[in-house]
Amino acid sequence: MKIAVASDHAGFEMKEFICRFLQNEGYQVLNLGTDDCSSVDYPTFADKEAKALLNGQADLGILVCGTGIGISIRANRYKGIRAALLYSDEVAEMAKKHNNANILVFGGRTMSQDDVAKRIRLFLTTEFEGGRHQKRIDLLDAAL
Ligand code: RB5
Repeated sequence: MKIAVASDHAGFEMKEFICRFLQNEGYQVLNLGTDDCSSVDYPTFADKEAKALLNGQADLGILVCGTGIGISIRANRYKGIRAALLYSDEVAEMAKKHNNANILVFGGRTMSQDDVAKRIRLFLTTEFEGGRHQKRIDLLDAAL
């Protein structure tokens, strides 16, 4: 599985940690930046990530900004993107079971590396339940 990872400056250190963690776990990683702690704008990196996923360059995405909020808001403006802010272990499981999220989002300034690693593992080892949840996911992309 190939996983695209991107962040702004506030998520840079966590993003680098996530890249190393995923490589150690045997996943292919597509690192879309940012490349250091210089100030950048989080929508730019949400855009790179959403486009990479929608173009089929990766199977799953991970995004990080300071809180995870701004970068989630932007990513979720793309039809077909389901970006979930994994603020607890329970939510990490539910984001797969019920939402089949295709981008996992973390807060670089609000979460520990241990919690992020645990939540990535939980998400990746949980199955989507389908059924009524698939119908609801289809409705997410229906015209407004
Ligand atoms: C950057 O300072 C910060 O605003 C950003 O990383 C994020 O937390 C926005 O939601």
